[in-house]
Formats: sequence, structure tokens, C-alpha cells
Amino acid sequence: MKILVTGGAGYIASHTNLELLNAGYDVVIVDNLSNSSMESVKRVEKLTGRKIAFYEVDILDKESLRQIFEKEKIDSVIHFAGLKAVGESCLKPLNYFRNNLSGTIVLLEVMQEFAVKSLVFSSSATVYGDPAKVPVTEDMPLSVTNPYGRTKLMIEDILQDLYRSDATWNIAILRYFNPIGAHESGEIGEDPSGIPNNLVPYVAKVAIGELEKINVNGDDYDTPDGTGIRDYIHVVDLALGHIKAIEKLTDHPGLVIYNLGTGIGYSVFDIIHNYEKACNKKLPYTVVARRPGDIAVSYADASKAYQELGWKAERGIDKMCEDSYRWQSKYPKGYSK
Ligand code: NAD
Ligand code: UFG
Repeated sequence: MKILVTGGAGYIASHTNLELLNAGYDVVIVDNLSNSSMESVKRVEKLTGRKIAFYEVDILDKESLRQIFEKEKIDSVIHFAGLKAVGESCLKPLNYFRNNLSGTIVLLEVMQEFAVKSLVFSSSATVYGDPAKVPVTEDMPLSVTNPYGRTKLMIEDILQDLYRSDATWNIAILRYFNPIGAHESGEIGEDPSGIPNNLVPYVAKVAIGELEKINVNGDDYDTPDGTGIRDYIHVVDLALGHIKAIEKLTDHPGLVIYNLGTGIGYSVFDIIHNYEKACNKKLPYTVVARRPGDIAVSYADASKAYQELGWKAERGIDKMCEDSYRWQSKYPKGYSK
């Protein structure tokens, strides 16, 4: 079975590709390399001993996408391609609407044209806004606070409308909580450009001495230690969730939505302390102001994915931090030489 992976050179996709190839799927990547490098693709090929068909193409380029569908005989699509920085999306909302929304529409049009109607979409826990209760279930009300989140919610709505118009589509919307960590080989991992926005990539750079200290964004939230609580999930567990979703789509389920999280919330201080264990050193931090738009607590009820996909996250916070540190210390500069 041949899977087209959009954004396939990126962080979550590279781990997913590795699991797809190990499970016997063929992988075709479309990526414009706007936030990634070919090196991740080469490493996945090396780790698996399998070849990947790679196209450096923007998903907005309809004619090139058509040619790929013509040539490759795609069975199913996993759609990761998108811009994902919340802060940047507030400064450049049109870039986000054009890239994420228009890109998805072009992809769906080409899929429809070639009668490929099986899609896994990367959504996000951000669509729950500031959840009224935790753990968060899939049927809770949705709302967003920034343009990035709005693109995810709008795409979810587009997919619902598409399915209502034609029930021969099979669509899995996966709402990821906070993916962290790396493959245990240390050969692939997250490689953010510039100073990381997200907590764990930032902590990783403090651990290798590239950044001086962690900025804890507020210790006055209504949580046990005052810092924000999130549901961190090992990227390999997340990747395996995509394999289960692809399997589900072959049963023709219609449109399905799953939270992919562990169901456990950890605070910023929990993360720092677990990372200290992984790297075996004290990590300096300072408490700074809250980050605008942040919420106090979010973690998943992931029982629907367990009941319907037979999937649950297996890797704990210690493994997430150990694998993150292995990748970061083996490749302090990420994929660049
Ligand atoms: P990433 O930036 O590493 O991967 C995205 C990939 O898409 C990159 O390789 C980039 O070059 C590519 N891309 C972007 N626009 C493109 C376009 N127009 N045409 C072709 N390729 C394009 O990000 P990631 O963390 O691996 O995230 C993957 C997906 O999961 C994204 O859709 C993201 O919004 C979503 N998601 C991520 C998180 C997270 O915390 N990392 C959480 C929830 C959801
Ligand atoms: N934090 C710090 N210091 C930092 C960075 C973050 O204290 O330098 C805190 C935040 O305030 C928050 C927690 O660490 O309490 C996690 O922050 P992240 O930036 O790592 O993650 P978010 O939950 O804010 O957002 C991430 C992605 C979103 C996605 C969301 C849910 O950035 O795109 O997870 O999947 F929508």
C-alpha cells in the first residue's frame, strides 16, 4: 500500500515514515522543505534500509501534485504539511491561511480528481481552546485563540463538509497533544530553526549548553506548582497512532476524530526535573511573565483511540526526555552539518 506523506521531511512525519516503512508500507513524500531538510529523509532511509520517493514540491502547486498522483498511484494520504508557529501566525496570518488552508484545499481537489479519498489529517489540541474541563474528550466544544489554531479548526470544518457532500471519503482527524522526544537511535528528532518556541526543544538546548537558562512562563497558574500543565506524548507513540489510523481507514469508517495524547498532565517544573534526570545535570531556570494566549491546563482523554484503534501511548516521560537528550547531544546542530 502506497502512502503519500505531505510535509514528510518534518519532525512528526519523519518518525511516522520510519514506522510506515517498517510496517511494510511504501512512502512518497511531498515537502517544500520550508521547515525541514532532506537529511531527515536520508536518515529514515538508512534506518529502515528502504527507499522513499521524495518530491520537493509545494502543495499549493496543483500541477506538480497532479503529476505525482498520476505517476505514483497513491492509496492514502497523511497530511502533515503546514506552518505551525503560533506566535508567527499572529504576525503573518495571511501566510498561515494561504499555506495551511489553501494548501489543503488544493490537496483535496487533486485527491478527488484521482479518486483517492482516504486521508489522515494532523489536527491539534489547540482546537479545544481553553478547555472547560480536563481530561479533554473529542466531543467538547471547539474554539481557537490564534490564526494557526483557526487554520486547524477551519480545515476540520472543511473535511466535515466534504464528507457530508460525499460519504465515500474516509477521513481520520487526529488531534495531537504535545509531541516531544525523538527516535531512540538518536538519528532523527526535532530540529527547530532559531530559538525554540516550545518548552522541550528549549530545555534540550539549555541541557547541551547552547542556551543559558530556561524561561518558565509564569508560576502563578491555578495548578499544583503554579506552572502550565500539558499532555506530552512521545513522537514515536504519536507516529504509531498514524499507522493505526491508516489501518482504520481501510475498514471504511467514514469520518473519525481521535485525541492522541497520554492522558497524563505534566507541569513545566515536572519537565525540567525529568530532563535533569535524563541529562544528569542541574538545569538553570528563571520564572518570567506568562506567555500571552497560554492556558493553564490541557490533557487528553485518549480512551476513544484505545477503544476504536487499539492504540495507546506506551512511552513515559523519562523515555521522552532521554530520547530527546540523546538526539540533541548527538546532533547539537540538528540536521545541518
Ligand atoms: P514540521 O514543521 O517539522 O513539519 C511540517 C512540514 O511541512 C515541514 O517539513 C515543512 O517543510 C512542510 N511544509 C509546510 N508547508 C508546506 C507546503 N505548502 N508544501 C509542502 N510542504 C510544506 O512540523 P511538525 O511538528 O512535524 O508538525 C506536523 C503537523 O502536525 C503540522 O500540520 C502541525 O501543525 C501539526 N501539529 C504539530 C504539533 C507540534 O507540537 N509539533 C502539535 C499539533 C499539531
Ligand atoms: N513554556 C515555558 N517556557 C518556554 C516554552 C514554554 O514555560 O520557553 C511553557 C508554556 O507556558 C506551557 C508549556 O511550557 O505551559 C508548554 O508550552 P509549549 O510551547 O511547549 O506547548 P503549547 O502547549 O503551548 O503548544 C504546543 C504547540 C501548539 C499546539 C499545542 C497542542 O506549539 O501548536 O502544543 O498540540 F497546538
